[in-house]
Amino acid sequence: MSKVEILSGGALPKKTEETLADLFATRGPGEDLSTVRGFARGPRLRADRALLERMPKLEIVANFGVGYDGVDLAYAAKRGIIVTNTPDVLTEEVADTALGLLLMTVRELSSAERHLRAGKWRSAPYPLTATLRDRTVGILGLGRIGMAVARRLDAMLVPIAYHARHARTDVEYPYYADLAEMARDVDTLIVIVPGSTETRNIIDAAILKALGPNGVLINIGRGSTVDETALIAALKDGTIRAAGLDVFADEPNVPAELIALPNTVLLPHVGSATVHTRDAMGQLVVDNLWGWFDRGAPITPVPETPWPPRK
Ligand code: NAP
Ligand code: 8YV
Repeated sequence: MSKVEILSGGALPKKTEETLADLFATRGPGEDLSTVRGFARGPRLRADRALLERMPKLEIVANFGVGYDGVDLAYAAKRGIIVTNTPDVLTEEVADTALGLLLMTVRELSSAERHLRAGKWRSAPYPLTATLRDRTVGILGLGRIGMAVARRLDAMLVPIAYHARHARTDVEYPYYADLAEMARDVDTLIVIVPGSTETRNIIDAAILKALGPNGVLINIGRGSTVDETALIAALKDGTIRAAGLDVFADEPNVPAELIALPNTVLLPHVGSATVHTRDAMGQLVVDNLWGWFDRGAPITPVPETPWPPRK
C-alpha cells in the first residue's frame, strides 16, 4: 500500500521527523503540496491560510505544542480540516519551568550566580532579595498548566487567586471575574493563557500599574499576551519590580531594552524543552496523524475542530 503524503516541517525534533518518514511519504514546505493529506507542524512554520491553500487535499494539521495560535483555525475549521495539539504530556514540565522562573525572578538567582562567577563574592555577599514568603500569586489562566503551577505553589505555602473567563467548580482559590481587580489584590502575576485575539496585550499598562511597585510578572504562556512596550516602561520607572519571561512577542527576537534591564529574567521559550517531554510531544503528533489515517480518529483534536464533529 502506498504511504499517505504529509507535509513535515517547522523544526520538529529529529526523532519525530524520522518516525514520520517511516510511516508517511513526507514532503517539505518547498515541494509541491497538492496531494498532501496531513501536516505535522513544528513551531517555525505557520499554518497560515496561504500555506493551507497550497494543500487542497489536507485533512489534518497535527500541531507540535499545546498552544496552536500558529494555525489559522478559522480557515481550517471552514475547510473541515482537523487540528490536533499536544496537551497534558507537557503540563508538569512547563509548570516546573514556571516555578523555576518565578524563583529566579523573585530571588534573583541568575544575578546571584553571575555575582559569584564574576568573583564578586570575595568582596561582598550578594544583596538580600525579595521573597515568596510574603507574596500572593494571581494566576491568569487556571487550565491544565495553571493548575499544575497552583499545586506547586500550594506545597510552597504561597496563597493563590486566579482569573479566567469562567470560575472553576473544583477549586477553592479565590476567583476574580475581573483581571484588573485581581492585579490590584496580588503582587505576583503568572500568565499561562493561550495566545488569541482575546488575550492579545491583556497585560497592558493598566494591569501593570494595578500590580504595583512590588509587583512581579511571570509569563510562561505566549508573548502576545503582554504589551512589551508597556512592560519595558513599567520595569524602567518602577511601576513594577521585576519580570520573568519565557515567551516574547516576536520570537526569537527579544527587545534589546528588555535584555539590558537588570530586573528581568529571560528564557528562550524553554517551558517544555527537555528530551523526555519533547519526545512525548513528538510521539503525540505522530499518534494523531496515525490515528486519523489508520483508524479515522485523532487522539487530541482541539475544541474548535472536534472529532467526531459536533452536530
Ligand atoms: P488550557 O488547559 O486550555 O488552559 C488555558 C486557560 O486559559 C484556561 O484556564 C482558560 O480558562 C484560560 N483562558 C483562555 N482564554 C482566556 C481569556 N481570554 N481570558 C482569560 N483566561 C483565558 O491550556 P494549557 O494546557 O494550560 O496551556 C496554556 C497555554 O500555555 C498554551 O495555550 C500555550 O500558549 C502556553 N504554553 C507555553 C509553553 C512554553 O513553553 N512556554 C508550553 C506549553 C504551553 P477559561 O476558558 O475559563 O477562560
Ligand atoms: C512548544 C509551547 O514546544 O506547547 C506549547 O504551546 O509553547 C511549547 O511547548 C513550542 O512552541 C515548540 O517549540
